[in-house]
Amino acid sequence: MSKIWTGRISKSTDKAVEEFTSSISIDKKLYLYDITGTAAHVIGLNKIGILSDDELKKIIAGLEKVKKKIELKEVRDVDNYEDIHSLVENELAIAIGKTAEKIHTGRSRNDQAVLDEKLFLKDALAGIISKIIFLQKNLIELAGKKINLAMPAYTHLQKAQPVLLSHYLLSFFEKFKRDINKFYEVFELNDCLPLGAAACTGSGYRIDRKFLKETLKFKYSDSNSMDIVASRDSLLDFIYCCSLVMIHLSRFCEDFIIYSSSEFSYIDIDETFCTGSSIMPQKKNPDILELIRGKSSIIIGNLMQIMVLIKGLPTTYNRDLQEDKKILFNAYEETYNSIEIFSKLLKKIKFNPNVIENSLKEGFLEATDIADYLVKKGESFRKSHNIVGRIVKYCIENDIQLKDLTLKELNKYSPYFGKDFYEKIELKSCINSKDVDCGTNKKQVIAKIESAKSVIKDWENKLEELCSRIPDFEELVRYNTVLK
Ligand code: ARG
Repeated sequence: MSKIWTGRISKSTDKAVEEFTSSISIDKKLYLYDITGTAAHVIGLNKIGILSDDELKKIIAGLEKVKKKIELKEVRDVDNYEDIHSLVENELAIAIGKTAEKIHTGRSRNDQAVLDEKLFLKDALAGIISKIIFLQKNLIELAGKKINLAMPAYTHLQKAQPVLLSHYLLSFFEKFKRDINKFYEVFELNDCLPLGAAACTGSGYRIDRKFLKETLKFKYSDSNSMDIVASRDSLLDFIYCCSLVMIHLSRFCEDFIIYSSSEFSYIDIDETFCTGSSIMPQKKNPDILELIRGKSSIIIGNLMQIMVLIKGLPTTYNRDLQEDKKILFNAYEETYNSIEIFSKLLKKIKFNPNVIENSLKEGFLEATDIADYLVKKGESFRKSHNIVGRIVKYCIENDIQLKDLTLKELNKYSPYFGKDFYEKIELKSCINSKDVDCGTNKKQVIAKIESAKSVIKDWENKLEELCSRIPDFEELVRYNTVLK
C-alpha cells in the first residue's frame, strides 16, 4: 500500500512495524467522519482559491465513490492501510488520480484525527442521549402503573421504612436525569471546530475557519492549535459520563439481582431474558443484569485508560494518542448496548405485589413513624427513639408485631400513646406522612411523575436541536454552491 509520507523515509517499513503501528482495524469506524471532514476541508480550500471549481467537483465526486466503495466493502486489502486517513486519500487517488494529492493541503492528520473524533462524538452523544430518554420513558411508565404498590426501603440492605415502588423507580430516574444533563453539557462544551491547527502551530494557509465551522455545523471554534492537537478532553468528558451511567445501571442491576433471588422473589425476570446452567437443571439466572454490572467495571477502566494515556504526554501530538479510539469506541458501544438491553429487560420484569407487600409485615418498618408519633404528641425525638427501641425489643422477645401491641402495653412505655396509634402506623399513613417534595407521599410521587413527563419532552426537543448540529455528508455536498 503506498504510504502518504514517503520521501524522508526511503526504505520500506518493516512488516512487523507496519502491523504494530497500524490503526486501521480500529479507526475504520471513522470513515464517514473522515470523508465528511475532508469534503468540508476541500470546499474550504476552493473558497480560498487553493482548489479550482473543477478540482473540487472531481474530489467531491471521488469522495462519494470512496464512501460507496467502503460501504459496499469493495475496498481491497483494507487492513494494509496505516489508518483511515491514508485509506481515504489512497482510495481517492484510485478513484480520481493525481488531484487527490491536493486534499491534504493546509491540514495534518493531527487535526484531522481530532475532527473525526469530534464528529463521531456528536453522533455518539445523540445516540446515547436518545437511549437514556427511552429508558427514562420506560421508567416513568412503570412508575405510573405501580403507583399503589408499596415495598420496603432498605439501608444496609436491612428493612428500613415503607416506600412506594414508584418512588424507588424514580430514584433511578433522577440519577439518569443527571447523566443526560451531563451528556448535553459534554456536547455543548466540545462543539468546537479543530480544523486549522494542522500539525501543531496552525495551518500555513489562510483557512477560513468561520466558514469551516459553519459548514461542519460546529457552534464554536477551538482557539489554540497546540491545545487542539494535544488534547482529548472531549473524550475524557464523554467516557466519564459513560462511567456514571454504567455505575447507575450497575446499582439498578444489583437491586434487581437481589430482588429476583428466591429469598426475595419480589420480581420475576421473563425467561427470554434469563439463561440456564449447564449442570443445574433448575436454574434461571439473571445474566444480563450481572453482565451490565460486570461491564461497568470495564467502562470505569476505560476512563482510567484515557486519563493515564494522556497525563504524561509532552505537548503536543504523540503517537500514544492513537490508542484513544479503542478506548472511546469500547466505552461508547458497551454503554449504548447496556442501556438498550436494560430498557428492554425493564419491560420484561414482573413485580410480585403479594410477596412485596407481605415482606412489609415483618421487620418493624413502622418504628420510625412511631417515634414521630410520640414527637408529635410532645415527646423529644431522642426519648421517643429510646422508647420505640425498647418496644421493638419487647416485640422481638414475644414474637409479635408492632400493630399487635395493646394500648395497655404501649402505655407502659409512654403515656402519649392513644387510640389513633393504630391508624397512624398503617402502611398508607407511614407512606403519606413523608409529605415533603422529595418524599414518598403518594401525591408528591404523582407530581414527580407528571413533571418527569415534561422533562422528557424538553430533552426530546433539546436532542432535536443537537441533531441539527451534526453535519451530514450528502447534505454538505448538496448545498455547496460550486457543486450544484
Ligand atoms: N492514526 C493516527 C492517530 O490516530 C493519525 C495521526 C498520525 N499523526 C502522526 N503525526 N503520525 O493518532
